[in-house]
Amino acid sequence: MLNFIRRHPFIFILITLLLLVIIGIVLLARTSVRRDPLVYVNEALNMINPLPIPAVLAPEIINGEQVFKLNVQSGQTEFQTGIQTTTSGYNGSYLGPTLRATTGTPVRVQVSNQLAETTTVHWHGMEVPAEMDGGPHQTIAPNETWEANWTVTNPASTLWYHPHPLGKTATQVYSGLAGLFYIDDAASKGLGIPQTYGIDDIPVVVQDRKFDTNGQFVYDHDHSAHNKTGTAGMLGDTILVNGALAPYIELPAQWVRLRLVNGSNARRYNFGFENDQPFYQIATDGGLLSKPVERTRLLLTPGERAEIMVDLSQMTAPLLLLSYNVEDVTTSPPDGIQDWLLDQTDEDQQFKILELRPIASSNLTTSLPDHLVDLPTLERDDQTTERTFVMQANTINSLLMDHARIDQVVQQGATEIWTVRNESAIYHPFHIHAVQFKILDRDGEPAPDYEQGWKDTVNVDPGESVRLIMKFNVPADSSNPFMYHCHILEHEDMGMMGQFIVAADAAATPTLDSSLDTPHHH
Ligand code: C2O
Ligand code: CU
Ligand code: CU
Repeated sequence: MLNFIRRHPFIFILITLLLLVIIGIVLLARTSVRRDPLVYVNEALNMINPLPIPAVLAPEIINGEQVFKLNVQSGQTEFQTGIQTTTSGYNGSYLGPTLRATTGTPVRVQVSNQLAETTTVHWHGMEVPAEMDGGPHQTIAPNETWEANWTVTNPASTLWYHPHPLGKTATQVYSGLAGLFYIDDAASKGLGIPQTYGIDDIPVVVQDRKFDTNGQFVYDHDHSAHNKTGTAGMLGDTILVNGALAPYIELPAQWVRLRLVNGSNARRYNFGFENDQPFYQIATDGGLLSKPVERTRLLLTPGERAEIMVDLSQMTAPLLLLSYNVEDVTTSPPDGIQDWLLDQTDEDQQFKILELRPIASSNLTTSLPDHLVDLPTLERDDQTTERTFVMQANTINSLLMDHARIDQVVQQGATEIWTVRNESAIYHPFHIHAVQFKILDRDGEPAPDYEQGWKDTVNVDPGESVRLIMKFNVPADSSNPFMYHCHILEHEDMGMMGQFIVAADAAATPTLDSSLDTPHHH
């Protein structure tokens, strides 16, 4: 060593300098990603814009079917006064109309694609025939029209629709393509809970976006592993609710109902009111709970919905709905280096979401019943198959999505138990098409009361294992398989998705040989 230094002093100095520079860079990177306790991102924001309520699309009745028409189009939206942002929407420039149907009615949706690229329209949460699902296999080319028809079997619930083309879901949703699909039934109509659309029963679609200095949406296309969008997904610093910046809504000073929808690509929200005023959760993704559950915080990951009741009867001052920072819910030590390099400060951010302004009551009598609906239980039987889904960075069971590979064959009519385990360092919302499931347990603990209802999307924290139980009613063959995937849309597009079919005779239906089609990246 000493000899070496004596003989090549310059090389020694060079190596030493290089090492110092490397250590410096590493230390700098570390401090820049160190968790801040809390960042109140839009604290200075004045809530000055009336909350837009998406129009309810009136169907035409043709041959006993309720026929809805959707145009997928691009356009300009004025989020900030005087600034036109290039966006897309259904029958408009941003988001889409609310479709509404009663359980048991036949519906048909005619979708015409006026975009310059292929799209699909998926009915998230809906039990529909496989070829009507609007997943990656039911594409609509530019200038084409696609029709989906089915009879509604879901109970009263807040469902939604959005594009699902392979590898392009994230950018299309980000540009504005999403809408609500409400299901009503006799039970929900008879409860006396608020149900006057836009008056005391309010849709609240929450999305985060990033604007550039010209007021245009910024989308980070770099999904490589070293880039934040490639790990955490696309996160924005500006909140839009029903497509509005800084929104408020005037509400009768009584019980009101908010239907919270996380329509964001990757951000999860930890909703709660200022001053921690309690509220009652009455519904999960796929329908009403058996009874209201009192809460002060409600975590909603992308794709999830929740309905809440808020008592404004004693209120005169505005009440602010916030998204609080997500408390550290990690249940196991993170993947060391990955977590260390990952910028997780986004989870420590707080946002103003919506200001509720109580006004004189509108004489609508609404109340909060003790009991909502009877929820059927699902139980394991001797036919029950159990499957395990391990989520790692952009893979499920170590595989990337392959359009030509069937990953699971389910027996039609079977009740199955799916264990979803997150072995990565960030949360993933796991979503399954065509079914509503119940959460059996989280890490062996029974699901909390507010998660006892029907779900189609479930948050799975790093290190966590969640068991789901569900019944598969709808057949699906290999030309129209159903999807399961992470609902962080960047993860989905990068391949964190698999396909399943539902066969009349699963034993006689072999899974396609996966070696024939190497998983590929779109
Ligand atoms: Cu909301 Cu497969 O998606
Ligand atoms: Cu879905
Ligand atoms: Cu994910």
